[in-house]
Amino acid sequence: LEKPKRKLWGIDDVKETFPVRAADSHKGSHGKGLMIGGSAFMPGSIVMAARAALKSGLGLLSVATVREAIPAVSSFVQEATFLNVEEQEGWIAGQALEQASSYDGVLVGMGLGRRDGTEVLLQSLIDSVDGPLIVDADGLYLMKSLLPSLKNRKTPTILTPHPGEFAHLAGVSIEELLKSPFSYSRNFALEYGVHLILKGPSTIITSADGEQRVDVSGNAGLAKGGSGDVLSGILLGMVLQTESLMDAMSNSCVIHGCTADWLTQETHSETDLLASDVIEGLSRTFRTLS
Ligand code: APR
Ligand code: MG
Repeated sequence: LEKPKRKLWGIDDVKETFPVRAADSHKGSHGKGLMIGGSAFMPGSIVMAARAALKSGLGLLSVATVREAIPAVSSFVQEATFLNVEEQEGWIAGQALEQASSYDGVLVGMGLGRRDGTEVLLQSLIDSVDGPLIVDADGLYLMKSLLPSLKNRKTPTILTPHPGEFAHLAGVSIEELLKSPFSYSRNFALEYGVHLILKGPSTIITSADGEQRVDVSGNAGLAKGGSGDVLSGILLGMVLQTESLMDAMSNSCVIHGCTADWLTQETHSETDLLASDVIEGLSRTFRTLS
């Protein structure tokens, strides 16, 4: 039986595939991204995702969140512009939805909450986003009943679950999933036509056609709320600036993990490392890449 190829992706691979920032580039050359998430009681997740996306070189970022969270979020994310999401008679809409198709790519889910009607927002994004659609966190939780509709998308869909989120989507126990994470990932990606990042101490990256890579960077300092939000922000930045989607996904995971590794080797410990330290630490990582 032939074993499928699974390439171990590391910082040297990132160096080879990292996009060059042309001297004559302008903000439009580096992607116009929209992220949708955050809620009154979870404003921090979208702050971290937004800051990570901006630190990853994205040209323009709009952040869509509930109106009451905009003042708090915007005070931490000065470079972005803002849109609202509103609850309307059982479903979620607002400017975010009206304007989603005018962006190069959309990231949805961090701190979004799981209130009724959020599926309607997700379904509209699935149907209307012309560029890559990245779904994380609460977006994944709510995605389960919408999975079949992902097959109709003409542009890439990227899902970034941790094992709990993936077990829920795939309809298996976490224990069962972790016995064969490669085959569950591959079968799922092929079945729904999605790109998948299954996160954990080792992260498995699977393309919609079944190619797989593994990232083993990072450490237990990342085992804290917020780390996933930072990864999804980096991912939005990389996806909109990298030619190959598979490279964008793999590079994001390694950039995230290696930043944590450098920080815990040099200035921090696994105990005190915070997700926001990882965002600041991206400077160090990107200096070695460009
Ligand atoms: N070694 C290396 N990397 C790790 C380790 C580890 N021991 N632990 C975590 N990571 C990395 C993962 O690979 C992933 O990139 O940190 C990130 C964690 O992402 P998530 O699990 O999505 O964590 P996060 O979203 O920040 O917090 C948990 O998920 O279950 C939901 O709603 C829940 O808000 C909560 C959130
Ligand atoms: Mg998460």
